[in-house]
Amino acid sequence: MNLTGQTILITGAARRIGRALALHLARAGADIFIHHGHSDSEAEQTAAEIRDLGCKAWVLQADLENLEQAIGLVEQAWKIQPFQRLINNAAIFEPFDWAAVTPADWQKTLNINLTAPFFLSQQFAKRLAGQPGRILNLLDWRALRPGADHLPYTVSKAALAALTQSLALALAPAITVNGLALGAVLPPSDGSKSTNILKAVPAKRWADLSEVGEAALFFLAGPEYVTGEILHLDGGRHLI
Ligand SMILES: NC(=O)c1ccc[n+]([C@@H]2O[C@H](COP(=O)([O-])OP(=O)(O)OC[C@H]3O[C@@H](n4cnc5c(N)ncnc54)[C@H](OP(=O)(O)O)[C@@H]3O)[C@@H](O)[C@H]2O)c1
Repeated sequence: MNLTGQTILITGAARRIGRALALHLARAGADIFIHHGHSDSEAEQTAAEIRDLGCKAWVLQADLENLEQAIGLVEQAWKIQPFQRLINNAAIFEPFDWAAVTPADWQKTLNINLTAPFFLSQQFAKRLAGQPGRILNLLDWRALRPGADHLPYTVSKAALAALTQSLALALAPAITVNGLALGAVLPPSDGSKSTNILKAVPAKRWADLSEVGEAALFFLAGPEYVTGEILHLDGGRHLI
């Protein structure tokens, strides 16, 4: 599967899973817009590595909690170069207990994890104006198996799963919209430890970042007839 001649905007692509996706998809030939929030130097480093692979890379900054900035991100990119693929990867994963959640916590989580992906997708689809495109949303196994932990995050990902299916219908036939529901790929970025996580993973191991890249490549370069699909890449965790 090849992405030569295709340009992809990936949110939160300076580091961790977003960065791994950017490099994996650049190795398949894609030019990449690396969006970041605070990780300026990591974004520049990822861009440099993509250019070393012979692809184009641009760095864009926007705070996705601020919906004006989220909406403006597509315009920022489009002025440089139109793009045909969008990956909504940026998210926050906060361990809020239901009783401690404030309205501000709730709004921030929903803005970054759900509302920004919606408006990015809306602006992207409007710019494409009927030309073919693809959207991939990064979900979580919790999206279809909601529990009590990380409550605003879980609700945001469940709603993003619903949005994936609603947009697959709304944007057909030009744009496919799919979701990749991840399990244990990397420990949380805030440094908190997840104890005994592998007890609930039938595969008994963490995912390899290259497996996330392969699955993304399938949605971005594979059969166009796949839309509204949510693929679990979680070693079977959603079955437990
Ligand atoms: N890690 C896992 O094992 C796992 C498991 C299940 C699902 N997922 C999903 O996979 C995706 C990537 O996971 P990850 O662990 O790599 O994520 P992460 O490190 O927690 O966050 C990814 C990026 O999101 C960006 N971001 C957060 N708030 C932002 C804001 N207000 N404005 C702009 N950017 C913002 C950050 O960019 P800056 O650093 O530039 O600020 C950050 O680098 C997420 O959607 C996550 O929910 C991950």
